Amino acid sequence: MIQVGIIGGSGLDDPNILQQAEEVTLTTPYGAPSSPITRGVIDGCRVLLLARHGRRHQYSPSQVNYRANIHALKEMGATHIVATTACGSLREEIDRGHFVILDQFIDFTRKRCNTFHDDFSGGAVHTGMATPFDAHLRKVLYETSMTHGNHTHEKGTVVTIEGPRFSTRAESRMFRAWGADVINMSVATEAALANEAGIPYAAVAMSTDYDCWKEDEAPVSWEEILEVFHKNTDRVKGLLTKAIPRIGTP
Ligand code: ADE
Repeated sequence: MIQVGIIGGSGLDDPNILQQAEEVTLTTPYGAPSSPITRGVIDGCRVLLLARHGRRHQYSPSQVNYRANIHALKEMGATHIVATTACGSLREEIDRGHFVILDQFIDFTRKRCNTFHDDFSGGAVHTGMATPFDAHLRKVLYETSMTHGNHTHEKGTVVTIEGPRFSTRAESRMFRAWGADVINMSVATEAALANEAGIPYAAVAMSTDYDCWKEDEAPVSWEEILEVFHKNTDRVKGLLTKAIPRIGTP
């Protein structure tokens, strides 16, 4: 039987989307996950909900214990992981409030524990990462999102930066030239670890801003992200509650 781990980005970690919710506090060989895990059910499907930045948003993107988060979900039996994130848009056609079902990442982070295989004393481990986002999960998310009238991009490359600062204009232009479509501060690390752990992973990115490459727009600010985000959280939650029960059907 499937059990879907949900990693909720800022504002998207509301335990009220679950029925029969019970809270589980656990730790892992990598330390404690960002939050207790809420175990529950969405429309007959078993789920595990984790708040990426902590329940009080107390962990910066660099402080999030990504390894503990993925390990804890695996330990509790997650068969799939669906993540949500806010992102900046690097493309004119990805407007604020649009959803992007990510299919590739570029990892521009610098100071994170981003592997379970630091130690090769038991043998070398190099994990393939050519297709880091699971095709079936992406299909379910895309089709469900379209059915519910969300403006949705079927694919997109995310560049994940270290943060917490935003990018310079030169960086933003460079990321565009590299082929990145959206930008955030968490997904590449999480996707890489989920792949190492052998758990199919997908992420819905909701665009909140145009970063700073666009000359006719004010550069992104945290206040802008929060405002656009709060306006759209119900649509993201709606997508999760409709898509997750469909994951188990072919
Ligand atoms: N998350 C949302 N918008 C972002 C941006 N412009 N840069 C990095 N992370 C973001």
